Amino acid sequence: VIKRSFSTSMAKNAIKNVTVIGGGLMGSGIAQVTAQAGQNVTLVEVNADVLKKTETSIATSLARVAKKLYKDKPSDGEKFVAETRGRIKGSTDPIASVKQADLVVEAIIENIDIKHKLFKDLDAAAPPTTLFASNTSSLSIGEIASVTNRKDRFGGLHFFNPVPVMKLLEVIRTPETSDETYQAFMAWGKSIGKVCITCKDTPGFVVNRLLVPYMAEAVRMYERGDASARDIDTAMKLGAGYPMGPFELNDYVGLDTTNFILEGWHKKMPENPLFEPLESMKKLVSEGKFGIKSGEGYYKYD
Ligand code: CAA
Ligand code: NAD
Repeated sequence: VIKRSFSTSMAKNAIKNVTVIGGGLMGSGIAQVTAQAGQNVTLVEVNADVLKKTETSIATSLARVAKKLYKDKPSDGEKFVAETRGRIKGSTDPIASVKQADLVVEAIIENIDIKHKLFKDLDAAAPPTTLFASNTSSLSIGEIASVTNRKDRFGGLHFFNPVPVMKLLEVIRTPETSDETYQAFMAWGKSIGKVCITCKDTPGFVVNRLLVPYMAEAVRMYERGDASARDIDTAMKLGAGYPMGPFELNDYVGLDTTNFILEGWHKKMPENPLFEPLESMKKLVSEGKFGIKSGEGYYKYD
């Protein structure tokens, strides 16, 4: 009897309708993998032009996935792409978009004031049962959740770029995240094909807390003139088995992003030398050289 009532309540609580707010690099990937898993997605962007760009980038990524999954049966691949795209509905109205949502995943720009404004509005509009999550890279989940009246139904769901390829999902619990919410997040991560790990609400969670100081140390090594960026990258790929060297990865993630993370953490923890901002990175960012997305960072791209 206990077993049956448990499974009934799990089935009742299964997440089927997901609203993703922000359709940039990360949000488009989150919407894509959710739709690939058969769930309904509402993807919210700031205007119709950006929504169009988002739809195009999802279509391009889905074509890559289909090519791999259906290499012997391209017609099934086309069906997979059409069906997956059919589950994603674009919207420019965040308030209307959360009315039917079981889960809201926020992936807008990394700015606490803008995230606060969004979550205040969403909290007033969404049903009380809707779970909220942020995909923030560097901000505190508890601080983001503080403006809502559902701190027990709020946590972090931190994905990795490129979302359709990277298998990991970090599930972040604040001291106020309820067990039920945490379990629902873990089950949802599994349902979309990710491997979940759990971390407390600490700066950078697991991956970025290790990766950002590592990338910063590589830049310090280059700034001291110990080795060239190219040689440091070759060393870490061939000597440590990393898929990308630290400069390739910095350019891939975006120098503006890494610089923003370092500056934010340095402000909060000025005594920690690992978070000291980097001269060469600050200069590149001030020149608009953000890495691959702007055509130049530590390397140049055609
Ligand atoms: N959508 C769908 N499929 C994609 C894709 C995308 N956006 N990008 C790559 N792929 C697929 C390709 O189609 C390819 O598939 P096959 O193996 O079937 O051919 C496969 O992934 C590998 O891609 P490529 O051959 O183009 O290139 P690669 O072998 O160099 O792999 C990579 C690319 C997966 C990005 C790899 O270089 C890698 O793992 N790099 C490290 C990425 C990383 O560390 N990410 C985390 C960054 S930190 C972060 O995200 C957190 C944060 O908060 C800042
Ligand atoms: P991005 O700039 O590519 O995308 C952000 C999108 O949000 C933009 O398309 C923008 O139009 C949209 N947006 C901004 N305000 C909005 C609002 N109020 N409503 C709806 N849409 C809005 O950024 P990104 O790299 O996708 O990062 C998004 C979030 O994910 C950030 O919190 C970031 O820290 C985190 N993150 C980034 C990475 C990464 O490698 N870039 C990895 C993991 C997590």
